[in-house]
Amino acid sequence: MSNSPEGTSPEPAEQAPSPLDETAVAAAVDAALAAIAGAADLDELKEVRIAVTGEKSPLSLANRQIGKLPKDQKAAAGKLIGPARGRINQALAGRTVELEAERDARILVEEAVDVTAAPRRRRMGGRHPLSTLQERVSEIFVGMGWEIAEGPEVESEWFNFDALNFKPDHPAREMQDTFFVEPPEAHLVMRTHTSPVQVRSMLERELPIYVLCPGKVFRTDELDATHTPVFHQFEGLAIDKGLTMADLVGTLEHFTRVLFGDEAKVRLRPNYFPFTEPSAELDIWHPGAKGGPRWIEWGGCGMVNPNVLRAAGIDPEVYSGFAFGMGIERALMFRNEVADMRDMIEGDVRFSEHFGMEI
Ligand code: DAH
Repeated sequence: MSNSPEGTSPEPAEQAPSPLDETAVAAAVDAALAAIAGAADLDELKEVRIAVTGEKSPLSLANRQIGKLPKDQKAAAGKLIGPARGRINQALAGRTVELEAERDARILVEEAVDVTAAPRRRRMGGRHPLSTLQERVSEIFVGMGWEIAEGPEVESEWFNFDALNFKPDHPAREMQDTFFVEPPEAHLVMRTHTSPVQVRSMLERELPIYVLCPGKVFRTDELDATHTPVFHQFEGLAIDKGLTMADLVGTLEHFTRVLFGDEAKVRLRPNYFPFTEPSAELDIWHPGAKGGPRWIEWGGCGMVNPNVLRAAGIDPEVYSGFAFGMGIERALMFRNEVADMRDMIEGDVRFSEHFGMEI
């Protein structure tokens, strides 16, 4: 197709039938009608429209030649060309209607939404059993009227050790393999247990105190089936007038029965912790243990050492208290028969899914 400006180039006369040549005009009409009928969609029809009715189309060119004809031939030429162009326009209009109907029908099929189709399922995930167990433990104590207390994971050495009656050269400081935080002059550690929250609670709260302190703790253990450098504990602390070992045992008995069933029992074996006196190892009788009911060692407990009460400004002549601390990972191991601790920390949702979607 020529792209020369209109009027400067000779018109492609060979394309244009003479406006008086009936056969040539009829042939041009037939060609146009065939092209219109052959257009497969609206885009193709648009191109055909330009080709058969545009300025450079044979019949437009023929029409333009009428002006140059002698006067007496103009009418005859007009009668030939006018209806020819009319037929083409009609055919275009008809084909447009057809193709639009086809397109609409196609869109209805292609974009139809099958409301009965099965939806794509999203995996629901599962809450981690360490979180749900920790929440369960907290709920049991809240049910007894206790409060939940929290403390920082980066803790001052004073709260983590000194205030808990660990002397500076006490071997117990090394008993818990500590991550020390730089610089050494800051005397900060990653807390090795939740016991520092005991001291914080005594300093911050009004007496009497009944608090449960769940949280993360850190020790320089290599990760293996039974150790992880980051794990969870919960700490209990009660300070009131006249509390005795019997209150400690009664509290622990109630708690373990709610968590492990009515047949659960607790047993204390003498032990040493700097912050309790007397101190005990806590065993629980786990009625649902795999391979039959048995005693399981679970944590430590005791009567709060008077030195600890004094460090927190509480008069041991007036108040006494008991405390206990247990591990959540350990509880999950014996409660749910998890043999390898690494399964708990790898974050594979298939592990959590076993425990159901507790909220
Ligand atoms: N903090 C001790 C530990 O991590 C556990 C513990 C023992 C906590 C005796 C206590 C307690 O409150 O009285 O090994």
